[in-house]
Amino acid sequence: MSCNLLKGKKGIIFGALNEQSIAWKVAERAVEEGAEIVLTNTAVSIRMGTIGQLAEKCGTIVVPADATSVDDLSTLVDKAMEHFGGKFDFVLHSIGMSPNVRKGRTYDDLDYDYLAKTLDISAISFHKMIQVLRKKDALNEWGSIVALSYIAAQRTLYGYNDMADAKALLESIARSFGYIYGREKHVRINTVSQSPTPTTAGSGVLGLGDLMEFAESMSPLGNATAADCADYVLTLFSDLTRKVTMQNLYHDGGFSMMGMSRRAMRIYEKGMRFDDVVDNNYPFGKNEEQE
Ligand SMILES: NC(=O)c1ccc[n+]([C@@H]2O[C@H](COP(=O)([O-])OP(=O)(O)OC[C@H]3O[C@@H](n4cnc5c(N)ncnc54)[C@H](O)[C@@H]3O)[C@@H](O)[C@H]2O)c1
Repeated sequence: MSCNLLKGKKGIIFGALNEQSIAWKVAERAVEEGAEIVLTNTAVSIRMGTIGQLAEKCGTIVVPADATSVDDLSTLVDKAMEHFGGKFDFVLHSIGMSPNVRKGRTYDDLDYDYLAKTLDISAISFHKMIQVLRKKDALNEWGSIVALSYIAAQRTLYGYNDMADAKALLESIARSFGYIYGREKHVRINTVSQSPTPTTAGSGVLGLGDLMEFAESMSPLGNATAADCADYVLTLFSDLTRKVTMQNLYHDGGFSMMGMSRRAMRIYEKGMRFDDVVDNNYPFGKNEEQE
C-alpha cells in the first residue's frame, strides 16, 4: 500500500544484488512511495546479479561504482545529479563483505590484508560516500543517509568474525559525520541494526540458519524480514523523522532488549544441555577454542 511518503524525493540506493537483497526491497518500496532513484553496485555484482531487472521495474539507471573508490563515488554522484537534474534527498548504504569470512579465516587467525578490505568495503566506504556527497554539496537540506548494521557491533555473536569490527566502525562514522552534516545542512545520518536475514551476504555468516532460529525464538515480534526493513528505512527517508540523527536504530523484533525468552528456554530444556554440548564437543566451527 502506498502513502506517497516519498513523493518528490530522490535518492541513490547502494547494494541491490538480487531479489533477496535488503537494498532491492528498499528500492522497490521507495519507488512505490513516489521516490525517484538511481541504483548502484560494483561492475562484477551488476554482471553476476539481477539488478538490471530491478532498474527496469523501477524505470531507472544503474551506475557501476566500487564503494571503496573515491573516484567511482565521485562519478556516481555526478551522474545521479545529472539524472535527477540537481541535488537529491536520500542515500542507502547496504554494503557488506568480509574476505576473512569468505575464506574461512577465524577471528583468532585473521589475515590482515583481508581485514583491511573488510573494513574498507563494509565501513570506510560509508565515510568515503558521505565525504563525496558533502564536498559536492549533493544533498538537499534535511536529507537522510542510512546504512545497515548488525547487533554484533555491540555484542559478541559467534561466527560474525571481523564484520563485528566493521559494523562498530560503521556506526561510529554515522555519529561522527552525523554531527558535521547535521549542523551544516540538517542532513541526518543513522544506522539500522537489522535482524539476521537470508540474503547472499547473510548466508556468509557461520550458522545463519541456527542464528535466525535463535533470534526468532528470542524476539517477541519475531525476526524482521528484508521487506519489513524496507518499510522502516522508508520512514527514515521521509519527512516524518527529520529530527532523528546519529542513532543506531534496532529493527529486530525486540531481540536487542532480551535476555532470555520462554521459547528459547523451552528449546534449551528439550534439546541439548550445557554438559551435552561440552561432552559431545558440539561442532561450533573449525576452531574449537572459539567456543
Ligand atoms: N543479511 C543479514 O543477516 C543482515 C543483517 C544485518 C545487517 N545486514 C547488512 O545489510 C547490508 C546488505 O546486505 P544484504 O544482507 O542485503 O546482502 P547482499 O549480499 O544482497 O548485499 C550486499 C551488497 O554489498 C555489495 N558490495 C560488496 N562489495 C561492494 C563494494 N566494494 N562496492 C559496492 N558494493 C559492494 C554487493 O554487491 C551486494 O549487493 C549489509 O551491510 C549487511 O551487513 C545484513
